[in-house]
Amino acid sequence: MGSIFQSLGRTVLAGVVLLALIVLAAGGEIAGSPAWWTFFMRWLHVLCGVMWIGLLWYFNFVQIPSMPKIPDEQKPAISKVIAPTALFWFRWAALATVVTGTVLASMNGYIAAALGLQRPFAAIGVGMWLALVMAFNVWFIIWPNQKKALGIVVVEAPEKAKAARLAMLTSRANTMLSIPMLYCMVLQQNGGL
Ligand code: HEM
Repeated sequence: MGSIFQSLGRTVLAGVVLLALIVLAAGGEIAGSPAWWTFFMRWLHVLCGVMWIGLLWYFNFVQIPSMPKIPDEQKPAISKVIAPTALFWFRWAALATVVTGTVLASMNGYIAAALGLQRPFAAIGVGMWLALVMAFNVWFIIWPNQKKALGIVVVEAPEKAKAARLAMLTSRANTMLSIPMLYCMVLQQNGGL
C-alpha cells in the first residue's frame, strides 16, 4: 500500500483500477453501450472540471490570501515552484473541461440549441457560456499576465505589478462566475430551463 501512495502516478493508476473493478462488479455488460459512453464522457468532464475549479478555488481561497502573511525571502517557494505547477494543471484542466463538455453536448445532440439558449436546453447553455468566458479568461488574460507576474516573461517592475493585479482580479471574476456556472451545469439534469 505504502509503495502505491508514495507515487502520484501509481496512486492515480490505483484509482482507475478501483473504478474498473466497481464497473465490473456493477454488471460490466452495460459498459461499452452508446449510453455508457455518454455517461463516461460526463464523468471525464466532471473530473476535468473538478481539477480546474479546485485549483481556481485554491488560488482564491488559499494562495492569494496567504501571500501577504509569507515573509519576503520565502515568497519564491510559491512564485517559483508552487504557482507555476498549479498554473500548468489549471490551464490544461480548463481546456480539457471545455473539450469534454463540448463533446458531451454534441453526444447529447443539443449543442446548437444549448448555445442558442433554446428551451429546454437554456440551463446548460447559460452554464456553457459562463464556462467559456471563464476558459477565455484563463488562457488569454490570467495565464499571459501570470507569466509576467511570476517572472517567466521578464518585464519592468511597474508592468509586473499591473499584470499581477489584472491576473488576480480576473481570477476573482472567474470565482464569482463559477458559482452560477456550476448551478447551471447541474440544473440541466434537474428540471432545466
Ligand atoms: C465550456 C465548458 C463547459 C461545457 C461546454 C460544459 C458542458 C456540459 C454538458 C453538455 C453537460 C451535460 C448536461 C446535462 O445534459 O445534464 C455538463 C454537465 C456538468 N458539468 Fe459542464 N461544461 C463546461 C464546464 C464545466 C465546468 C468548469 C465544470 C466544473 C466542475 C462543469 C461541471 C459539470 C457538472 C458537475 C455537470 C453535471 C453532471 C451531471 O449532472 O451528471 N462543467 N457540462
